[in-house]
Amino acid sequence: MTNPKITLIQGDITKLEVECIVNAANKYLAPGGGVCGAIHKAAGPRLAQECRSIGNCPEGSAIITNGHDLKQKWVIHAVGPQFNRTPNPENVLAACYHNALVLAEENRVESIAFPCISTGVFGFPQYEAAQIAINSTLTFENFISVSEVYFCCFGSKDFQIYTDLLSKMQGDFAKT
Ligand code: AR6
Repeated sequence: MTNPKITLIQGDITKLEVECIVNAANKYLAPGGGVCGAIHKAAGPRLAQECRSIGNCPEGSAIITNGHDLKQKWVIHAVGPQFNRTPNPENVLAACYHNALVLAEENRVESIAFPCISTGVFGFPQYEAAQIAINSTLTFENFISVSEVYFCCFGSKDFQIYTDLLSKMQGDFAKT
């Protein structure tokens, strides 16, 4: 196992030069708003068709699809907790990151980008969500093919939170 290179980036996840992006999905795997809406829009209607053929996905779990019209080969759809509704939202959010990385490894993905899952419509506090995202990734024990992990922040507040936390928790990370 070799720890992946960690990169922090601010921007639109659909524009990143990576092999796989993670979607902050809902349990029906239906196109929605936020990052999910942006991913479905860029991927085209075949993504929603493939999601429909898979069906549902429980909170904390993840499934993988093709990227279709996206520049990325794969999309991993991870279903985050709804902060005020889901029991044990912290554990469920940690499971999202862990299960997304398991799927990435199963599919020999080399580079993967995560959005800030659950921090939009699903209402998870940004700082706590970032702690969980970083901690779940840094403690993942089965890195083999994944050599690059990107944390993709859309807003400047998340970007600042990740900058502070990664400086403390990781030390060695790239920022673009
Ligand atoms: N690239 C990267 N991050 C983005 C982008 C983008 N293009 N657009 C928004 N974000 P949200 P959730 C950030 O609401 O809270 C959907 O309708 C956004 O600023 O997308 O997990 C789904 O279908 C925030 O930091 O996801 C579900 O029903 C982060 O992505 C529900 O919302 C997550 O915000 C999921 O809610």
